[in-house]
Amino acid sequence: MARKPIVAGNWKMNKTSAEAVGLVEAMLPRLREIDTIERMVFPVYTAIPAVSACLTGSGIVVGAQNIFWEEAGAYTAEISPVMVKEFCTHVIIGHSERRQYFGETDETVNKRVKAALAHDIKPIVCVGETLKEREAGTTAEVVRRQIVEGLAGLNPAAAENLIIAYEPVWAIGTGMAATPEDANAVHAGTVRTALASVLGEEAAAAMRILYGGSVKPGNAKAFFEQPDIDGALVGGASLKPDDFIAIAEAAAI
Ligand code: PGA
Repeated sequence: MARKPIVAGNWKMNKTSAEAVGLVEAMLPRLREIDTIERMVFPVYTAIPAVSACLTGSGIVVGAQNIFWEEAGAYTAEISPVMVKEFCTHVIIGHSERRQYFGETDETVNKRVKAALAHDIKPIVCVGETLKEREAGTTAEVVRRQIVEGLAGLNPAAAENLIIAYEPVWAIGTGMAATPEDANAVHAGTVRTALASVLGEEAAAAMRILYGGSVKPGNAKAFFEQPDIDGALVGGASLKPDDFIAIAEAAAI
């Protein structure tokens, strides 16, 4: 089954609104031509309106890096799905930095995923093991739990609006990517199997599973050649126009 590749740039806590516009303008002429894949950028909240204005009609979509699950109310500093929906079609949920530094759990991931879907925002749900978990041989167990609990209660129809990113924590921002073969084995053997147990075989087979963790122009193609790697969630390299474009080109070939 053909799954359309996705290349998504997670800009994390980088760039003012003006800088973000500069970044997107530098990428736009070439990135808009690579239209056989889905291209996405995830700026900080304050830059989303300006980036979204620049990208109108380009085919490149803007997403948010998180959302809260309530629609409005006394939740100082949170952003609701209704607010994100004004500008964004996608949202990253459960990134390991959220889990590591801000106390996100599989339960809060589940609430955010449900809130996003209820507002027609497509979540990219991030899963992945820490170095300690990998060394203890618990990668499959951890990733399976993150999927089963993070997606609990969803029905198979939700699958077409859901994307998964497998990002081993030890590979994020370290320059130490997983090998394409190892990543593919987790995608096929653990992620897709766990998805099938929650959403059914057919839905799981159609879902895009991205790899993330030190994806660069030099290794991108080797990841995309793997049968169960359907694209990439890119951090550091997404802040460099030439690198992000090269990664998108590698996915398009
Ligand atoms: P990295 O980050 O590409 O800088 O390793 C990936 C991510 O956190 O999504």
